[in-house]
Amino acid sequence: MTSLALGIPGIRRDPAARPATLGRPDVPGLIDRFGRTARDLRISITEKCSLRCTYCMPEQGLPAIARDDLLTATEIARLVEIGVRDLGVHDVRFTGGEPLMRADLAEIIRRSSAVAGGASISMTTNGIGLDHRIHELVDAGLTRINISLDTVDRDHFARLTRRDRLPAVFAGIQAAKDAGLTPLKINAVLMRDTLAGAADLLEWSLQNGVRLRFIEQMPLDADEQWARDNMVDAAELLSVLGTRFTVGRPHRDDPSDPAEEWNVEPTASTPGGTVGIIASVTRSFCAACDRTRVTAEGTVRSCLFGDDETDLRGLLRSGADDATLADRWRAAMWGKQSGHGMERADFVRPARSMGAIGG
Ligand code: GTP
Ligand code: 5AD
Ligand code: SF4
Repeated sequence: MTSLALGIPGIRRDPAARPATLGRPDVPGLIDRFGRTARDLRISITEKCSLRCTYCMPEQGLPAIARDDLLTATEIARLVEIGVRDLGVHDVRFTGGEPLMRADLAEIIRRSSAVAGGASISMTTNGIGLDHRIHELVDAGLTRINISLDTVDRDHFARLTRRDRLPAVFAGIQAAKDAGLTPLKINAVLMRDTLAGAADLLEWSLQNGVRLRFIEQMPLDADEQWARDNMVDAAELLSVLGTRFTVGRPHRDDPSDPAEEWNVEPTASTPGGTVGIIASVTRSFCAACDRTRVTAEGTVRSCLFGDDETDLRGLLRSGADDATLADRWRAAMWGKQSGHGMERADFVRPARSMGAIGG
């Protein structure tokens, strides 16, 4: 399996080819065979990114997706409308690559929010350039934002992301705060060489009123360097944070939330707050998963780790009606796998890296 391939194994490109629905009850929602219902729609809108985080992208970036292969703003909004109106989607999140790399991001948000009913419209971003665009995005209907930031040390940031852009990320975070987008969550991927800065990052987050969540690194790096033996897990992080902070017991507000939250006591220099950990590897939450994904090229991906994708773009462009699109989407989700399967001896990492799925 090549790490750079955006070629997708198992993709159903023939619009007539149907994923199996044997045994599926005739209900409108996005149910699967394991009793879960997907309500959280994540749409990747580009493979491009302004950074090259080592846990995600190869140095040269991902191979470009041809412009015609990307879903347009109109096509994205049509899928949002079907998702919310016909399939029970509650939350819509735009991801990348980096969503800000799309010049028509505000149009995507505007068209989507016009048809999203009461669903939230959020985005996961690296924050670079956000300060210049925040007002148009909020005007278009953006309601919430998560920003990726792994370290507050400029040299370390430059090494980790292969770009010296930490001040630009800080500017983006400030702009999101000024625009009143709350809660503002910060995502930090745990790496062995970032563990040393983890307490500094938490201190900075508490001082700046943002909700930090650490993420166990998953085997979704394009460079295929991930190794279970070497990854930093939640337990190791907690013991490091415990040298500076008093951290309470974990809780999860919503069972389908990927992050568990730990209360953090105030110190002489920081107010109290929480720290979240998304422990996908050691404390898997797959049994409560409520996600459905659409890739930038318009395929439904039922699980981060599920390479068997179902094409909707072909249907969209061949004039299919909403009911046909909804049925194909339901069938794709019925086939969702039970979980990532990382614990199994025969685990095979997916062909797409995180940058090509969208987090
Ligand atoms: P909130 O609604 O703010 O909780 O957003 P979120 O945490 O669902 O979205 P975000 O894009 O910020 O996701 C944070 C990280 O969680 C991602 O970067 C992934 O590392 C991880 N993650 C997101 N979705 C999944 C998932 O379905 N499975 C697993 N295993 N990890 C996920
Ligand atoms: N494991 C876990 N999270 C990752 N992200 C990128 N690559 C990985 C990985 N290998 C996260 C980023 C960001 C989101 C887009 O995906 O931190 O929050
Ligand atoms: Fe859901 Fe798959 Fe992520 Fe598990 S790995 S939480 S099943 S998307």
